[in-house]
Amino acid sequence: MTRYGAMPRDTVALDEGTRALVIIDQTRLPREVSVLSLTTQEEIYRAIATLQVRGAPAIGVAAAIGVYLAALDIETDDWTEFHSRFVSARQYLASSRPTAVNLFWALDRMEGVVIRNKNLPVSGIKSLLRDEAARIHDEDIRACRAIGEHGLGLIRDGWGILTHCNAGRLATVRYGTALAPLHLGRERGYNFKVFAGETRPLLQGARLTAFELMEDGIDTTVICDNMASRVMQKGWIQAVLVGCDRMAANGDACNKIGTSGLAIIARHYGVPFYVCAPTSTIDMHVPGGDGIVIEERGAGEITEMWYGERMAPEGVGVYNPAFDITPADLITAVVTERGVLKPPYAESMEALRR
Ligand code: MRU
Repeated sequence: MTRYGAMPRDTVALDEGTRALVIIDQTRLPREVSVLSLTTQEEIYRAIATLQVRGAPAIGVAAAIGVYLAALDIETDDWTEFHSRFVSARQYLASSRPTAVNLFWALDRMEGVVIRNKNLPVSGIKSLLRDEAARIHDEDIRACRAIGEHGLGLIRDGWGILTHCNAGRLATVRYGTALAPLHLGRERGYNFKVFAGETRPLLQGARLTAFELMEDGIDTTVICDNMASRVMQKGWIQAVLVGCDRMAANGDACNKIGTSGLAIIARHYGVPFYVCAPTSTIDMHVPGGDGIVIEERGAGEITEMWYGERMAPEGVGVYNPAFDITPADLITAVVTERGVLKPPYAESMEALRR
């Protein structure tokens, strides 16, 4: 789908030979395509916490591979001891970031393997853990490709598309969620004009989405986050496509800070607002957006990270929520690998479980 250039094909992968989690270091992009081989739990934790690997699906896959690598290092034949040390490793990785449900979903799946196979020797459980991590990795590739197909059915050649943060191949294993329809369209000769919101404060839109789309030869324009209303007012945007970190059972969508504002503006201008996410991002245990924990990150990301010298006065209060909640009633449709869900989402998502 994407022309890879200097990029490895997959954003997140397991290297069995070196027992490493291999990632593209997203903090270095777009200046440098740097591939990291992470072998210790501390390196993997730090990679997730500092956003070297980021985006809900990619975090889930990284955690699955990470906890498999932790399991390999547990030297015991006793299941109870193995399980207890596995749970410690799992809890450590689970504490790296709080919001994207894919992290917990993937770790749950991995622990399920340990619990269901209590009667096997530990060596057998370790190979089943490797298989499960590989399945989580491969399922993401297939799910994102299917999201691309379903999403492409909602947009037209030549449209202006606004997106936010990076819900592209860098946020998943290979194809992306919100950007998958754009990559797929490109492959089929469509010409979209994509506007990428820069996404303060960590600039995932300006750095990552712009890089990824330009690599694929897609017409890309970066705007500051406060310019979204202007481009919609000018009639340049025919659809907004965003990703999601956790969708509540009522369809409220938690995504990168700034997403809910875009949904409000899109409603004002009559522009359809689509959330693209694999079903692994739907959390039926959380009834509504209020129940989702929103990560708050360090003040320095706002006051100094991108400036030659500190920009805001010392001692000023800083509020840095990394995500916000878009109420379900502002979402035109949710694009999953299993099809396009329409409101009311409580019903359409419940139907997915049947
Ligand atoms: O803080 P980040 O960069 O991990 O936030 C990522 C997002 O908000 C993405 O839109 C979301 O994870 C969907 S990725 C397919």
